[in-house]
Amino acid sequence: MSVIEALSKRYSCRKFKSDELPSTLISDLLVAAQKTASWCNTQPWSVHILSGDARGKVSDALVSSARAGLKSESDIAFPERYIGEYKERRKVCGLQLYSAVGIERGDDVATQDQLLENFRFFGAPHVAFISTPGELGAYGAVDCGLYISSFMLVAQELGVATIAQAALASYPEVVKRFIPISEGHNLLCGISFGYEDESHPVNSYRTERATIASSVQFHI
Ligand SMILES: Cc1cc2nc3c(=O)[nH]c(=O)nc-3n(C[C@H](O)[C@H](O)[C@H](O)COP(=O)(O)O)c2cc1C
Repeated sequence: MSVIEALSKRYSCRKFKSDELPSTLISDLLVAAQKTASWCNTQPWSVHILSGDARGKVSDALVSSARAGLKSESDIAFPERYIGEYKERRKVCGLQLYSAVGIERGDDVATQDQLLENFRFFGAPHVAFISTPGELGAYGAVDCGLYISSFMLVAQELGVATIAQAALASYPEVVKRFIPISEGHNLLCGISFGYEDESHPVNSYRTERATIASSVQFHI
């Protein structure tokens, strides 16, 4: 699979089969993603992969925290609001998701349950938590963004579905109770991964992209 093909086929999977991936496949994925570029080759991504009981315990704790209405205290502040085109794109993205699974506007119970799926890792058997040293600032996070993209594209080539989830950074203190995230690191996000459940309606739609002209300007 070419990079262009992987980019065009990848999508955020929100329902996985429970089958675990062979450990050799996970290892191949990690070896390839490790080739990601970073500023000064600092490679500031720290990755904790949870499967089995470890996965289950963190999921249970996150679901309980969200159900109890625990206030999100992410290490890196989430956007306070979205305005203009960003607000519009976010709205379309939400509408696509909710209409795919038949959740009507105003159905708060179903909406909340769909949100909680984040903390169940959408049924994925594996989740990677990504953290980075706070002292590297925004560029450390940029390097991790590249790593996350590599991870998702390599996974695509290997037949593995993924979803990056900032939601998994909502409760760093909860996650840190179970996994030893290094002192001074910011928890950035998680990536749930496994085999896609292609028959589930939540995986039936694809998001659009804006035109090149809306993102890129040429100067001569
Ligand atoms: C850094 C990052 C964080 C994201 N966090 C979430 C999340 O918490 N929950 C979720 O359902 N999707 C999350 N997504 C998935 C985006 O909604 C998705 O990438 C976007 O709508 C484009 O759709 P696509 O990935 O299917 O192409 C995240 C994506 C990225 C890159």
